[in-house]
Amino acid sequence: MLAESEFNYRGGGLACEGVDLGALAAEYGTPAYVYSRHGIASRFCAYEEALRDIPHQVCFAVKANSNLAVLSVLAREGAGFDIVSGGELYRVLAAGGDPSRVVFSGVGKTEAEIRFALQQGIHSFNCESEFELDLLSRTAASLGKTASIALRVNPDVDAVTHPYISTGLREHKFGIDIAHAGRIYARAKNLPGVVPEGVSCHIGSQLLDVKPLLEAADKMLALVERLRSQGIAVRYLDLGGGLGVPYRSTDRPLSARTLVEEIKNRIAGRGLTLMLEPGRSIVAEAGILLTRVLLVKNNAKKTFVIVDAAMNDLIRPSLYQAHHEIVPVKQNASVEDITADIVGPVCETGDFFAHGRQIAAVEPGDLLAIRTAGAYGFVLSSNYNSRPRPCELLIDGQAVHVARRRETWEDLIRGEVSF
Ligand code: LLP
Repeated sequence: MLAESEFNYRGGGLACEGVDLGALAAEYGTPAYVYSRHGIASRFCAYEEALRDIPHQVCFAVKANSNLAVLSVLAREGAGFDIVSGGELYRVLAAGGDPSRVVFSGVGKTEAEIRFALQQGIHSFNCESEFELDLLSRTAASLGKTASIALRVNPDVDAVTHPYISTGLREHKFGIDIAHAGRIYARAKNLPGVVPEGVSCHIGSQLLDVKPLLEAADKMLALVERLRSQGIAVRYLDLGGGLGVPYRSTDRPLSARTLVEEIKNRIAGRGLTLMLEPGRSIVAEAGILLTRVLLVKNNAKKTFVIVDAAMNDLIRPSLYQAHHEIVPVKQNASVEDITADIVGPVCETGDFFAHGRQIAAVEPGDLLAIRTAGAYGFVLSSNYNSRPRPCELLIDGQAVHVARRRETWEDLIRGEVSF
């Protein structure tokens, strides 16, 4: 789904909403992450709109983009949040998010994180092991609280995606084997401090096909019926996130609307609140990484375009062989295409954004936009090679909001002491 005014060419130059990216780079420097407020809000609203007529809660997966400005845009639209750490909850609260709409996922929650979440009164915990269930029960009981819980079960569905972001098979570390769920729910029912009210799963990420999601939904609905017959009053069905986005212009991902329509039919009339945890499908397309060409170098038979962003800024190509479209900020019909590797300055052969990519010839100083970088971009960045991390800019119409200032060399050594 394309939000109309996010990234478009205007008068030969790429703009984000009403702001020219060339002018933005001149003022704020590069590399820079640029996000469209409209792009983020409209994708969240597409979920809300599709779910309007059934009880639901859309919890943005904070791990995809945890910048306070992004979270606060979503909080103002009424989003809930899916967190996987105490740090993410801290961010949600700082951004004005409502703790009563927060679900806490994650395979290894610490007691301190659980206590913090209980004290803040979050909506529920997606519990991933019996160990966690016992810890949660003890911690909640000691605080005189009762936690609403769901067990995250592993429905053993092949998500058909990159192996690093597939999570729903029996061989993965996530969740509880669906075959053991009945017994563990029965135990949970009798533990102090917890009420089992939900079932949850998340089978993987960047899913382009609806089939695995529906297969998981069907298995989860069958589980709900089994649990109900066992006397567990299940009220929430959380199907996680996972909807893919078009990293390639030829990808045809499923829309939030189509997914929701299919699921809605299945859960209608069953007395369930549908919870979803989308991350990527809300923010990926609403962000780019803006970078400047440092030099163009010819080695043996290859051309390398060396840009000022690197794997430390956006690791997805290096880590998942991910494809990101890379487009010039200034359109120039008079230059020929070249085939080049587009790489960063980091001292690693794995530091690349694209191999053998056909792009319009570029010169030092030209700007490129690495597209679909709003999800799992900045959040996975590091200071490798002692490179200060880029700034993050949120565009709202004509206005530029510095959502995170560029790091400085002083930031690099903050907290360190020489010996
Ligand atoms: N819920 C749970 C429990 C998750 O583990 C995830 C993602 C989500 C929701 C959100 O999934 P989404 O809607 O964003 O697909 N770094 C990888 C992606 C890792 C996803 C981890 N879990 C990447 O850059 O592709």
